[in-house]
Amino acid sequence: MAEALTVADEPMLFDRLESEPTDALLQLIALAKADPRPDKIDVGVGVYRDAAGGTPILRAVKAAERILVETQETKAYLGSAGDTRFVDLIRPIVFGEKGARDERIVGVQTPGGCGALRLGADLIDKANSDARIFVGQPTWPNHGPLIECAGVEMVKVPYYDTRSRRILFDEMMEALKEARPGDLVLLHGCCHNPTGADLSLDQWREVADFIARRGLVPYVDLAYQGLGNGLEADAQGTRLVVEAAEQALVAQSCDKNFGVYRERTGSLFVKASSKAGAETVFGNLLQLARTMWSMPPDHGAAIVHTILDDPELRADWNAELKEMCARIRSLRARLSAYDERLAFIDRQNGMFSMLPLSRDAVLELRESHGIYMADSGRFNVVGLSDENVDRFAAAVVEKLDG
Ligand code: LMR
Repeated sequence: MAEALTVADEPMLFDRLESEPTDALLQLIALAKADPRPDKIDVGVGVYRDAAGGTPILRAVKAAERILVETQETKAYLGSAGDTRFVDLIRPIVFGEKGARDERIVGVQTPGGCGALRLGADLIDKANSDARIFVGQPTWPNHGPLIECAGVEMVKVPYYDTRSRRILFDEMMEALKEARPGDLVLLHGCCHNPTGADLSLDQWREVADFIARRGLVPYVDLAYQGLGNGLEADAQGTRLVVEAAEQALVAQSCDKNFGVYRERTGSLFVKASSKAGAETVFGNLLQLARTMWSMPPDHGAAIVHTILDDPELRADWNAELKEMCARIRSLRARLSAYDERLAFIDRQNGMFSMLPLSRDAVLELRESHGIYMADSGRFNVVGLSDENVDRFAAAVVEKLDG
């Protein structure tokens, strides 16, 4: 009889794990949901809410889903690059018509913007495990884990000061001088998450020029295109840096601008130094994707593909995206008008802004007013409704740290 081989004092496999804290942003969804107060205000996670407080499926998305139910004939595998027509349709939206024709840029479909960011980080690590990525602070809390999980070292540089409500541009540029050729710079393409504070076009030009001169590689996270100042305006910075740099990455997401959040719909584009180099990158992306998710989920990309290939649906999507963008802008204007100390909010873009609030103040707002925002003071502007925006403003100005 075979003897069981045990090492008495060694813990079993899973007993070696340490407990992990729940993701703070995702936990906010559950906390807000569990609050029975009818007048609670959920400005936590980044989802669009309409005037009635709902997150409805866009008309064009519903129509595309109906078309897919009627016409899709197979669910057979598409391959690790996903839906290549989807990627081709996204290209000009991100890079413009001219940029989209650049044969040094290759792209694959990914499971949302997170999948794109992770795939890009893996590609970086595979290409050069010594490459570091410079990331302005504060940033989206999942950037660090996504990048470091792939083994890429993250170097923190200043970006924004919450108290003075301004971008620390000179400080950031100074800190970037530490970067070596081949290092990466993470940039939020538009609608900076968590601060809403975007670089001006002149600042983008300066960054693009700096990156090009120093042989750095921009890694742009473009998750909110169309929700700041419109599709074209929101892509200007990305196009400037990608055009200037010899090599670049862009992690793109359709989750917010098509409102298909849980479908996880995005893409990763990589610019190489040459067409041949781009082909090598493409092969590596396929191999890395194959080891992580094999093939990306299809449904969200099929929806986007159907919309963008149909002039009527495309026009309707554009119109609804403009409505969403206008609603965000009008809420920003209302908050700004409420109090001088909130005036900065109208100069910022997208779903988020960050209030100078202590963690205690954030928790107090949660307990006494049912206001759910991230511990950092980040709030989702469009989580507010026409009815509660003034109540929100009144409660937060009481607690501002400056
Ligand atoms: C957010 O920042 O709220 C969104 O990007 C959702 C997420 O995955 O964190």
